[in-house]
Amino acid sequence: MDRFTILCTVGMVLHLWTAVTEAEYMKYKDPNRPVNVRVRDLLSRMTLEEKIGQMTQIDRKISSKEIMKKYFIGSVLSGGGSYPSPTASAETWINMINEFQEGALSTRLGIPMIYGIDAIHGNNNVYNATIFPHNIGLGVTRDPELVKRIGAATALETRATGIPYTFAPCIAVCRDPRWGRCYESYSEDHKIVQAMTEIIPGLQGDVPANFPKGIPYIAGRNKVAGCAKHFVGDGGTTNGINENNTVIDWNGLQSIHMPAYLDSIKKGVATVMVSYSSWNGEKMHANKKLITGYLKKQLKFKGFVISDSQGIDRITSPPHANYTYSVEAGILAGIDMIMVPEKFTEFIDDLTSLVKKNVIPMSRIDDAVRRILRVKFVLGLFENPMADYSLVHELGSQEHRELAREAVRKSLVLLKNGKNIDEPLLPLPKRASKILVAGSHAHNIGNQCGGWTIEWRGLAGNITVGTTILTAVKNTVDPLTEVVYRENPETELLKSNKFSYAIVVVGEPPYSESFGDNMNLTIPESGIRTITNVCEAIKCVVVIISGRPVVIEPYLAKIEALVAAWLPGTEGQGVADVLFGGYGFTGKLARTWFKTVDQLPMNVGDPHYDPLFPFGYGLTTSPTELRASQ
Ligand code: BGC
Ligand code: BGC
Repeated sequence: MDRFTILCTVGMVLHLWTAVTEAEYMKYKDPNRPVNVRVRDLLSRMTLEEKIGQMTQIDRKISSKEIMKKYFIGSVLSGGGSYPSPTASAETWINMINEFQEGALSTRLGIPMIYGIDAIHGNNNVYNATIFPHNIGLGVTRDPELVKRIGAATALETRATGIPYTFAPCIAVCRDPRWGRCYESYSEDHKIVQAMTEIIPGLQGDVPANFPKGIPYIAGRNKVAGCAKHFVGDGGTTNGINENNTVIDWNGLQSIHMPAYLDSIKKGVATVMVSYSSWNGEKMHANKKLITGYLKKQLKFKGFVISDSQGIDRITSPPHANYTYSVEAGILAGIDMIMVPEKFTEFIDDLTSLVKKNVIPMSRIDDAVRRILRVKFVLGLFENPMADYSLVHELGSQEHRELAREAVRKSLVLLKNGKNIDEPLLPLPKRASKILVAGSHAHNIGNQCGGWTIEWRGLAGNITVGTTILTAVKNTVDPLTEVVYRENPETELLKSNKFSYAIVVVGEPPYSESFGDNMNLTIPESGIRTITNVCEAIKCVVVIISGRPVVIEPYLAKIEALVAAWLPGTEGQGVADVLFGGYGFTGKLARTWFKTVDQLPMNVGDPHYDPLFPFGYGLTTSPTELRASQ
C-alpha cells in the first residue's frame, strides 16, 4: 500500500467511525433520554422545510406515502366521514395509516406522523365501532367515572384502527340549544362539563402524582392523545349560531366557558383545538392574547394547539380571501398545527415565505414544532410508529357495547309518567297481548346515533352494527307479547283498539355543525303526526331522540309518559332495559327544557327562568326485577 492509499483508507475508516458515532449521538432516538432532551436534539437538526411540514395536517383523502415524504407532513386526519370505505375493517384502516407512516418514516430524520380522528362518541367514523351516547346524554348521567370508562373504551377502539389521536372531548358549554352542536356539549352548566373532563384520563391515562402542570401525558399504546375543543366560548354564540360571535365579558368567559380548560390541562390533555367562533368580535383563530398569553403562558399548557378545519381561512370573510394574512395571523396568535386540510402546498408556501421575510420569527416556528414533537414523544410514536392488528378485536367488542348500554340507561330522563302520580305508565309490563311500536326513530340505527356517525352529518338507516329500539323491545318483552311495528301507523290499525299500550319513538334527523342550527326546534314531520295519531288512540309512552330539548309542550297533555333519550348510539337495548323496569330511571336534565323558543337563551340561574322542565329535573322509577349485583 502506498502512502496515498493508506491515507485514503485511514480517511475512510475515520469517516465511517464518525458516521457511526454520529448515529450514537442521535439523542432523539434514545427512549431513555428525557423528552425535553430528545425534543431539543431533534429540533436542532431540522431544516425550515422539515419544521413547517410538522405543522401541517392534511386529510387522508388527499394524502399518500409520496406526499408524506416529499413535504415532511407531520400529521394526517380523517375529517368527519373521511374513511377508506364506509364499511372498512380495522385492518383496512391500519394498512392505510401504516402506509402514510412509512412515507413519514422514510424522510431524512424519520419523524413519525400523528394520525387524528374525531372519535367523539366512540370511534364513530368506523363501521362496527361501539357508538356511545353523544355528550348531551352523558351529562345527564352525572357520572364522571362512567365517562372515564367510556374514554378508555374509545381509546381502545381508536387504537384498534391504528389511530393514536382523537379530537375529543368537546368541552363546550352550550348556552343555547338552537346551536347545531349542542349535543356535543355535556351541559349548560360548566360544573357538569368540568366533571366530565374525566373522559381525558380515560382516553389518555391517569396523570401520575406530582406530574408537572401543563405537560401532556399519555399512558401507553392502549391510550390516545386527546384534544379539548373548541377554545374558547364555542357554546356561547349569539342565538346559538354556529361559528358565530360570543359576546361576554372577561369574567363571564372565565366563569362559564374557561373552567373546563383548567381541568383538562390539569389532567394532562395533549392538545387544544381553537374555535371557529369569535369572542367579542375577534376571531379566536387570531386571538394571540387568549392562545399565547392565556392558554400557553398563564395556564402553562405545553401540548400543541391545533386549528380547526380551514379555521385560519375563516379569519377573513369570505373565508380564504387572503390566505397569506390568515397564515400570518393564525401562526402569530400561537396556533402550532394547522388542520389545512387539503390545499397544503399553499399553506406550506405561504408560511415558508412569511418566515423567510421575518414576518414570522423562527422562535414562533420552534415553539410550534417543540410542542408537536413533545406530544409525539410522549405518545411513544418514535418507539412504536407502526400499528399492528393486536387490538382489532376491541372494535365493537361485547364489553364496550355493554358499557354503552349502561350509559344509555343512565342517560334517559323521565319527564312525565302517567296522567297523575297514582297511575304511572312506566315501567311497562313485559306481558301484554299486543303492543305497538311506532315512529321514525324506532327502528333506525342512523337516526338513533345522530351526527358524526360513519358520515360527518350522520345518516338515517342501517348504517352500522347495533340494536334499534324496536329490536330491543322485542328482545325484552314476554315471548307471548305480540309486537306490531309501524313507522307511520295507519288510522285503521289505531282504531282497532287492540293495543295494551304504544311506544312512540320520534325526534330529530341526524345533523352536524351549522346544518343543525335551528331557530324553531320543532320535531319534524312525521314525528308530530305520529305522536298525535297514536297518543290520541292508545295509551302511549313517547321517547324523544334528539340532540337537545325540542318543542313538546303543545303535545304534552296527550302523552301519557315522556322520555328524553338524546342520541343514544348503537346500544338501543339500554332504552328497553329501563322502559320495562329492568333498571330504574335515574337521569336528571343537564339542560333546561324550554316551553317556547322565544324564551331562549334560558339557562338555570337566569332571572327570566320559566322552564317546562327545569335543569336537574327527572322522575325516577324502581327496577321491577331483583338483580344479583348492580
Ligand atoms: C369541527 C371539529 C372537528 C374537525 C375535524 C371541524 O369542522 O369543528 O370539531 O374536530 O372538523 O373533523
Ligand atoms: C369535513 C369535516 C368538517 C366539515 C366542516 C367536512 O367536509 O369532513 O371534518 O368538520 O367539513 O368543515
